[in-house]
Amino acid sequence: YGMNIQVPIEVVERVELSARQRELLEQAIGALDHAHAPYSGFQVAAAARLADGQIVTGTNQENASYPIGICAERVALSTVNSIAPGARILEMAVTYRPSSGPGHTPLAPCGMCRQALVEQHVRQKDALGLVLAAEAGPVWLVGNASDLLPLAFTPSDLD
Ligand code: THU
Repeated sequence: YGMNIQVPIEVVERVELSARQRELLEQAIGALDHAHAPYSGFQVAAAARLADGQIVTGTNQENASYPIGICAERVALSTVNSIAPGARILEMAVTYRPSSGPGHTPLAPCGMCRQALVEQHVRQKDALGLVLAAEAGPVWLVGNASDLLPLAFTPSDLD
């Protein structure tokens, strides 16, 4: 007896994205220049589409005191909840640019961001899709960000 957990991810080419998904990914790529990543040289950007159609971006913001740095995904989530409280995020695109030049493999959010994405899913109840891609190459589509963190610690665990 045991558990064997699987994470469903769809791998698609960029041309297979919907127009909205492509636009979201393009907005994220456009926001890469707003990253503040002088220490790692690794720029990351996230773009969230809200239910009302608005797109909100976030980028990683590093600090000379290294642990203070915050990931692009959590900057985007905090911005959404600060400027549009109660908003529903339909989809979030995440992209990155390493110092070595454009990447080709999608980036999956770090563990801390997965936990933050689970919290957002709990808050909004509806699924929060992810569009993960480098500046070129294939795209990973995750139907619901919570799928990336099986056995997550959630608010109901506090009961
Ligand atoms: N980073 C993100 O912004 N998102 C991720 O999903 C992975 C990592 C940032 C944190 C740090 O500023 C840099 O990338 C290198 O780890």
